[in-house]
Amino acid sequence: MPETITITDNRTGDSIEIPIVNNGVSAAEWSKLLPGIWFFDPGFMATAACESAITYLDGEAGILRYRGYPIEQLAEQSTFLEVAYLLLYGELPTKEQFEHWKREITYHTFIHENVRKRFLEGFHYDAHPMGMLVSAVAALSTFYLDAKGIFDHESRQKQIIRLIAKMPTLAAAAHRFSVGMPFVYPDNSLDFTSNFLSMMWKVAEPRFEANPVLARALDILFILHADHEQNCSTTAMRVVGSSHADPYSATAAAAAALYGPRHGGANEQVIKMLMEIGHVDNVPAFIEEVKAGSERLMGFGHRVYKSYDPRAKIIKRTADEVFEVTGKNPLLDIALKLEEIALQDEYFLSRRLYPNVDFYSGLIYQAMGFPLEMFPVLFAIPRTVGWLAHWQELLDQDSKLARPRQVYIGPDARDYVPMSQR
Ligand code: CMC
Repeated sequence: MPETITITDNRTGDSIEIPIVNNGVSAAEWSKLLPGIWFFDPGFMATAACESAITYLDGEAGILRYRGYPIEQLAEQSTFLEVAYLLLYGELPTKEQFEHWKREITYHTFIHENVRKRFLEGFHYDAHPMGMLVSAVAALSTFYLDAKGIFDHESRQKQIIRLIAKMPTLAAAAHRFSVGMPFVYPDNSLDFTSNFLSMMWKVAEPRFEANPVLARALDILFILHADHEQNCSTTAMRVVGSSHADPYSATAAAAAALYGPRHGGANEQVIKMLMEIGHVDNVPAFIEEVKAGSERLMGFGHRVYKSYDPRAKIIKRTADEVFEVTGKNPLLDIALKLEEIALQDEYFLSRRLYPNVDFYSGLIYQAMGFPLEMFPVLFAIPRTVGWLAHWQELLDQDSKLARPRQVYIGPDARDYVPMSQR
């Protein structure tokens, strides 16, 4: 059986045979037969925009792998910083490589005083921390003018390290400002996640000691959120990166894409939904409303996964460990009941709607004390690694400027009418 497709233009009878390579067919080949006829694919539902060797995702089978390694093994045995190295450089680091990597990240966590004093403290007192983060990341490009040298290997690595290292500092600074607490400087003696928790929660103690169970749980959540191939924000990163903008500007664009409730904001919506339901007894009635179309079961369904999101399974286990420390989130019972009913209901089964990564992550964040506004910020910290891995891959591929076509549906040519005659 040949691994090809044949397309015939019925207007002319001309045909072309196109090979299927890695489950894709070349649009350039298609254009040889049909110049000026475009695939109409809003939302890129059936378009592969690039070749990528970073993350493998099989939504039918519920498989997620970073550089070939199953997400389950990484979540169980690895750390976020090691996974970051893997995503960026393709292999797990040796001991020496990891020590060097950790040191580089640790010693780039400080931000320029002007970013904090002049820039972050200039926001309105009730500014949303995600809005602050998006703007602060963009502003970093004005502090690191060498970032424009995107094809200079050394400069590129420096910006990658700075971005990964400074993201938690900016994130915590945005939170502290929004609750009126003084800024906490990074503590270079702490690991990546514990340092972030210290910058978030430290009050008057000389050194903040994060609970190791909570620090490990957050590290696992960071691993699970580090990359997810061509999602909305990564696509934004690639599109902006394709214009050869500096990585701070491109990361700000990606973070802006993550801000929306359909992407990084969904776990906040889950908590709001659980609070609205209010009690386990109200779950069946809520499910009926979802089925009638007047509500949406947030944290369920996914564009790509048509079975249980593998990240959701890991998060559910992690939630149990966190609740042993923090006490059970009172919303958990409602979530469990929702899942139990939905997974037996024909409406959800026939549409292949299962819990996604956001169904339980918000419960963990809330139990740890993070305010709802910080949820997308908590997503942006680890996803910065995925964005940068894709940005680097894109530049090494010497990819084209992203510039899709459109199907024009506006008026035909017409003559300008002077205002006096309209
Ligand atoms: N609750 C109820 N019905 C749903 C839901 C849901 N959460 N999700 C999909 N459906 C129904 C939808 O109404 C449609 O039914 P019908 O065929 O009768 O019209 C069918 O399932 C297909 O839905 P769709 O909207 O065409 O599917 P999509 O691939 O465009 O949507 C989604 C994917 C994630 C936007 C959607 O499932 C959703 O809105 N889920 C809730 C929000 C959410 O949890 N988002 C986080 C996604 S994971 C985060 C990440 O990886 O970045």
